[in-house]
Amino acid sequence: MTKPTLKVALLGAGTVGSQVARILTEDRKDLIERIGGVPELIGIAVRSLDAPRDYQADASLYTTDADSLIDRADVVIELTGGMEPARTRILRALNAGKHVVSGNKALIAAHGAELMAAARESGAQFSFEAAVAGAIPILRPLRDSLAGDHVTRVLGIMNGTTNFMLDAMDSHGAAFDEVLAEAQKLGYAEADPTADIEGHDAAAKAAIVASLAFHSEFHIDDVHCTGISEITADDVAAAKNDGYVIKLLSVCERDGEGVNIRVNPTLIPRTHPLASVRDAYNAVFVESRDAGELMFYGPGAGGAPTASAVMGDFVSLARRGILGGPGVPDYSYRGLQATSLSNVVSRYTVGLLVKDQLGVLASIANKFAENGVSIETMHQTKHREREDVEGADATIRIVTHKTSDQKLKSTIDELSSLSAVFDVASVIQVEG
Ligand code: HSE
Repeated sequence: MTKPTLKVALLGAGTVGSQVARILTEDRKDLIERIGGVPELIGIAVRSLDAPRDYQADASLYTTDADSLIDRADVVIELTGGMEPARTRILRALNAGKHVVSGNKALIAAHGAELMAAARESGAQFSFEAAVAGAIPILRPLRDSLAGDHVTRVLGIMNGTTNFMLDAMDSHGAAFDEVLAEAQKLGYAEADPTADIEGHDAAAKAAIVASLAFHSEFHIDDVHCTGISEITADDVAAAKNDGYVIKLLSVCERDGEGVNIRVNPTLIPRTHPLASVRDAYNAVFVESRDAGELMFYGPGAGGAPTASAVMGDFVSLARRGILGGPGVPDYSYRGLQATSLSNVVSRYTVGLLVKDQLGVLASIANKFAENGVSIETMHQTKHREREDVEGADATIRIVTHKTSDQKLKSTIDELSSLSAVFDVASVIQVEG
């Protein structure tokens, strides 16, 4: 049976748009299998045809005529950002029953209800996972996975730029301006970094999250927002001294009959899981009546990570468009086989109960060397002779460098045959 074709219009070829163009082109075969149809990128609307791009698609695809591109498409992926013309273009697509994927948080936080109503009216699908927390799947869990539960609170770090800045200030005592310049150089910050620093970017995301979590319409104006521009190196150092770290937190929580939504710099104990969210990473905690506490963590910004969220929305809505529903999970098209442990490469810790006598350490080290397993650290603890393992009066703990499961097994076999080794008490994989 011939697979139906799905005409895709991409609006925008910036940091994220370029990556989406790349994935649509390079992963075409996989996408066909996953969607059950053929996604055909029919054009990429840009402001300037000659601007440099992170990924150069076929030159004939670029156009400045977004409207006619939208009119020829089945699915529109909007990655231009800003209010207009993005709003008018999305409405044009939705009103005509075309499915839309967007990553435009500012637009959705301001006009989400209008866009959703247009989609509902025409029966089109409208998804915007990329608008919140980059690659982290958070909107779909709120919208689908938790659709039968009652969310009570969402708490998170939803802006990568400010997290990168606060983390750098915390780690090296750097000054605000210095870390802002670094964040801009790394491409984390929005075109106008005020949106990041003053919390507007996080506030837009919080409004979107609150709307989905609490099934109510919230706008960016509903968010009480304070940014990090007043936070100094001294504030960060003082917090550190008291055992805290400063993070720009977004909080959406039930407050009586309403919902309180706020973004502000907050001191959190260094032992709190959110304290370990470093660099430009984001993390979102969701608390709900039945599921309890859930945590989502991942890259909150960047071209490829955000494109991953866009593509997830695209595949999902394309599949629904073609099948008329979500379908069943695809277990088969790649036909990969499960592999044996023999190729797995990892670090290991090995605990040995031994007799503390001349040459034991050397004979053990030799067995590792003979089997090609490199030792990273080695530590001997002397103790009283064990009652359960007669003669053993010391424990040696070895951590290896990365090695194969096969090499480790042969080392362990040979260690067991050494007369001074009474027991290989533990062999545990080490990650990270
Ligand atoms: N500037 C945003 C951030 C990018 O730093 O998180 C993703 O929205």
